[in-house]
Amino acid sequence: MAALLEVENLRKVYRVPGAKGESADLVAVDQLSFELQPGGSVAIVGESGSGKTTTARLVAGLENPTSGVIRIAGEARNPLPWGRGERARNAGRVQMVYQDPFTSLDPSQTIESSLDEVLRLHLGRSKEARSARISELLSQCGLDDRHRNRRPRSLSGGERQRAAIARALAAAPQVLILDEAVSALDVSIQAQILNLLASLRAALGLTYLFISHDLGVVRQVSEACIVMHRGVAVESGATDDILSSPRADYTRELLEAIPRPGWAPRRRATADSTAAPAEPADGQLGVTNGSTVLPAI
Ligand SMILES: Nc1ncnc2c1ncn2[C@@H]1O[C@H](COP(=O)(O)OP(=O)(O)O)[C@@H](O)[C@H]1O
Ligand SMILES: [Mg+2]
Repeated sequence: MAALLEVENLRKVYRVPGAKGESADLVAVDQLSFELQPGGSVAIVGESGSGKTTTARLVAGLENPTSGVIRIAGEARNPLPWGRGERARNAGRVQMVYQDPFTSLDPSQTIESSLDEVLRLHLGRSKEARSARISELLSQCGLDDRHRNRRPRSLSGGERQRAAIARALAAAPQVLILDEAVSALDVSIQAQILNLLASLRAALGLTYLFISHDLGVVRQVSEACIVMHRGVAVESGATDDILSSPRADYTRELLEAIPRPGWAPRRRATADSTAAPAEPADGQLGVTNGSTVLPAI
């Protein structure tokens, strides 16, 4: 099958302030190649700073790569800046869901107007047709017409992320990039959103680039996985193979750090051995470095 999206030798270098007021090169992503097959789901995992969000932004078309090629449906993408037509065309192909739903939902807008705004831009249908589409999007995402007039702040965290997913789907994209989209949610809500993502992929034939610091959730969404470390892919392949027999030392370290029942940072375990096992806080990577939990983002 022809790939829907091909990434070839992607590299992104940022100029950052260096020593003595000079600037230095920071290589955020280097030599990264992968493909997304139509209807497939590929995960990118790695700890904070490994280049996941940079990759997401490059694939979404929010930034230009320093070098490398991104092809969609066999066609190399033009560098930014894009005209209106090209922006709309890309938006109909690739959309992004962020960790924080407020990145895509304006707090002052109702969910209805937030969806309608996208529908006007990309579909430009009649008001009735757009309204019918809003009902459909809400229901596909596990919401309903009662949520139309709600503002993001009056929704629960899970409902808010559902609304952000509905907004991304309003542009009818083929590829959904999910950058830590479930990382800030409580475990039970996280499971509901992961189920929603699985059913949306099956029902709509969507293709996912699922980005997470958490190898535990990756297994539930993606059959293939790329492990990134310091901007470079250190391992890639079938998620089950990588989880059961990791080849790279770095992947092994990530796996050993997944919190299991009974997992607790040593300092807490000794301070109070009767305490319930500690969970890493939302959005944090369960990698223990001595007794500290490294922040994910
Ligand atoms: N706009 C930017 N300017 C300078 N450096 C950046 C920028 N965006 C990301 N970086 C750097 O690139 C590296 C990768 O960051 P990022 O892609 O956000 O990683 P991740 O999402 O895996 O945590 C980090 O060292 C980060 O500080
Ligand atoms: Mg990130």
